[in-house]
Amino acid sequence: MPENSKLRSLLTDAAERGVRYRESVADRHVAPSAEAVTDARKFVEPMPAEGSDDKAVLSMLDEVGSPATVMMTGPRYFGFVIGGSLPVTVATNWLTTAWDQNVGMHEVTPATSTLERVAMDWMIDLFGLPTACAASFVTGATVANFTALAAARNRVYTNIGWDVEANGLIGAPAVTVIVSAETHPTVIKSLGLLGLGRNRVVRAAVDSQGRIDIKRFPDIDGPTIVCTQAGNLNTGAFDPVGEICEIAKPAGAWVHVDGAFGLWAAASKDREHLCSGFAAADSWATDAHKWLNVPYDSGIAFVRDTAALKSAMSITADYLMTETEFRNPSDFTPELSRRARGVDVWAALKSLGRDGVAEMIDRCCSHARRFAGAFREAGFEVLNDVVLNQVLVSFGDDIRNREIIDEIQEEGTCWCGVTVWQGKTAMRISVCNWSTTEKDVDLSLQAMLEIASRIS
Ligand SMILES: Cc1ncc(COP(=O)(O)O)c(C=O)c1O
Repeated sequence: MPENSKLRSLLTDAAERGVRYRESVADRHVAPSAEAVTDARKFVEPMPAEGSDDKAVLSMLDEVGSPATVMMTGPRYFGFVIGGSLPVTVATNWLTTAWDQNVGMHEVTPATSTLERVAMDWMIDLFGLPTACAASFVTGATVANFTALAAARNRVYTNIGWDVEANGLIGAPAVTVIVSAETHPTVIKSLGLLGLGRNRVVRAAVDSQGRIDIKRFPDIDGPTIVCTQAGNLNTGAFDPVGEICEIAKPAGAWVHVDGAFGLWAAASKDREHLCSGFAAADSWATDAHKWLNVPYDSGIAFVRDTAALKSAMSITADYLMTETEFRNPSDFTPELSRRARGVDVWAALKSLGRDGVAEMIDRCCSHARRFAGAFREAGFEVLNDVVLNQVLVSFGDDIRNREIIDEIQEEGTCWCGVTVWQGKTAMRISVCNWSTTEKDVDLSLQAMLEIASRIS
């Protein structure tokens, strides 16, 4: 076959397999069968000395791999905080993979770098952040937290006359880091990676929903970074960031907001009050692969102090075109080479528009309330105030909860995880997927309640 027809045949085969997979996600068991998981062992072999036919490689991936996947992108996956992927973003992701651009420098990837710039401006507008913010397109909220906190470290040390980029932290003066007692572990990990220490944080006390309790907020004395949260991963609750800024900003502290999924509440008229006063903070981290429903991986850091972010992230070298009048993507990210992840964000926002994003957020929150109402009506305890898309349900004691959740996962109509909230074991439901309908909620409830009544 001539080279181009081989290429066409291979990529068309991949597209058709991808389409078949996506067409089936709503009807398949959410968890893979034990047999499919065992079959995935077929991938485990010594590195072959000779290569294989490309079509055979693709076919093996689909025939062995696809059945062993979890229907994370389907409408009844409620585990962790996992978005699906809007069809348009899968399509643009495929096309940008075909482009295979390295989005390090504007000069060599003008299309992707321009699209990222547009996506950045649209998100800043959508979230109501300061217009002069810079944004970094990174792998996820973990790296977005890391990136924003690197800028925080740079600014706080510069303010006390210590050049942390040049001299590192050995012999540096101490900086206080205040985090919520309910901070996400990726914030703690980011602090460790930045040399600020996982254990030398001051933990601010929280209330019954996991929000920082402003009445018990620690005193700020000296150079300080405060890490707050928009959307607790269990309850969905928001720290009172506006009130924290009123205390922390006059004291010269840097305020960071981890809004991995919660920041998207700012897009909804009915939920923007949860983000009230957030624009006064200094940096914000979020994920597009959660509630915006773009393919993995896609996180974004926003930083008000562009100079601090650039001096923490940018590099120069004679062979790199780092001098440009345009925004040079790698000036803002830990990576130099990376994929064009901003294109999927642009595609989602262009396809949904402002109203579509708001409607998607509201729809997920309404599904969460439907779950909570049905569980309460059936006599089970809902442990959180359902302010967003997260629901915590308890079926009784620890053993009973775990048995029921195991059975729900195995039965396969839907998938939810287990958590422990303030000492109580619970099932955690997170509604993040664009394609979840009321019918999916009801189907899931029917399966869950049937299992709960069977396991006494
Ligand atoms: C509040 C919060 N922060 C950070 C993260 C980490 O995000 P990622 O896994 O995209 O790095 C999560 C993940 O669920 C989260 O809920």
